[in-house]
Amino acid sequence: MSTAITPSRTNVAAPGSEGIEVPRGLKGVVVTETALSDVRGLEGFYHYRQYSAIELAEQRTLEDVWHLMLLGELPDAAARAAFDARTAPLRRLPEPLRAVLPALAAATAPAGPLAALGPALSLAAADRGLRPLYDTAPEQRLADALFATALVPTVLTAVHRLQHGEQPVEPRADLSYAANYLYMLTGREPGPAEARAIEQYLIATVDHGFNASTFTSRVIASTGADLAACLVGGLGALSGPLHGGAPSRALDTLDAIGTPDRIDPWIRARVLAGDRIMGFGHPVYRTEDPRSRMLRGVAEGFGGGLVEFAVAVERQVLAILAELKPGRELHTNVEFYAGVVMHLCGLPREMFTPTFAAARAIGWSANILEQARDSKIIRPAARYVGPAVPQPVPPA
Ligand SMILES: CC(C)(COP(=O)(O)OP(=O)(O)OC[C@H]1O[C@@H](n2cnc3c(N)ncnc32)[C@H](O)[C@@H]1OP(=O)(O)O)[C@@H](O)C(=O)NCCC(=O)NCCS
Repeated sequence: MSTAITPSRTNVAAPGSEGIEVPRGLKGVVVTETALSDVRGLEGFYHYRQYSAIELAEQRTLEDVWHLMLLGELPDAAARAAFDARTAPLRRLPEPLRAVLPALAAATAPAGPLAALGPALSLAAADRGLRPLYDTAPEQRLADALFATALVPTVLTAVHRLQHGEQPVEPRADLSYAANYLYMLTGREPGPAEARAIEQYLIATVDHGFNASTFTSRVIASTGADLAACLVGGLGALSGPLHGGAPSRALDTLDAIGTPDRIDPWIRARVLAGDRIMGFGHPVYRTEDPRSRMLRGVAEGFGGGLVEFAVAVERQVLAILAELKPGRELHTNVEFYAGVVMHLCGLPREMFTPTFAAARAIGWSANILEQARDSKIIRPAARYVGPAVPQPVPPA
């Protein structure tokens, strides 16, 4: 039976070959089964395994959620202690990586810490002797996943410091993941409010259904490659501005507006010019993004001029979008308050996307482990639209 999809919006197999029509961008296409997470865009709800991700962010630690995603269940006190004892020592930089990190940081300085993370993970994996997932037993895959995800914050903060002429700060095993992350970045032990706010942001961004970077890491996992190769692929996808590469832009918008009296004319002029207001709209949510609601609460817990200004901007943007773009269901997305919260916790803007990547590395790892249990390689097809074939190869 034919569908209402027009050919230009679909991928159609070449005449005579086997093929299935799917929407452009694979939008809405179910490509596998997962027990890890899902997003219900119409309800404004997403979950990690069987739990609301927002409730997890409100009630649990990042370590608990990491345990949930990789080991399948929330830990009890004994399991939590064992998990902490297992992961905290993994924060330390392996010696060969430590030796080359200054050169890596210098070489990637124009692009920032995210550009150094891929090479650093590849190097650490080679040093550890990481084997292809295809050749690795499940317990070893889990150990490799914990190794790689525990190392990410250390690499990112060390590279950031090196790129600013400072020495890396050694990780501390007595601090939580989130507190240690801020400590390694600034060299100061953060206050409990900052550590908890960043922890809540990290938990809220661990996973989010079958997004582009998750799919990418799973495609690589389906080839049986090693876990670091899958993570590096996920990183590449995340770095794009249509995915994770733009969380500082909403904060830049607040800066550009500047003062409350400029909100209305500034926003109105941009929307009328056809521009997108950063931090609003979402490809899946047709309601408020639940992450935005939670992060607004976190920001309001800090209070202060920036938060009051952000709340005022949000209120006016929503009103103007409803007036000028009626029926589009444009609501606040995760990016709007994520930038505000990270700023309030002392993170510089160039660390916003790396911080997102650190959280998402946990989600990618869980997805990689899940994909590795399926021996089927992901290998779709494309419709050839080039010159008619075959044509004779011209003489050299
Ligand atoms: C996230 C985003 C790409 C989702 O896009 P989408 O669901 O595919 O929405 P569409 O591109 O179909 O847009 C639908 C309509 O709303 C408008 N629109 C969408 N987001 C808008 C925004 N942030 N500001 C102003 N108008 C917006 C579009 O211009 C379009 O208008 P039209 O119907 O007159 O052409 C889009 O909302 C956006 O660019 N937002 C700003 C960037 C951002 O915050 N990104 C982080 C996402 S987590």
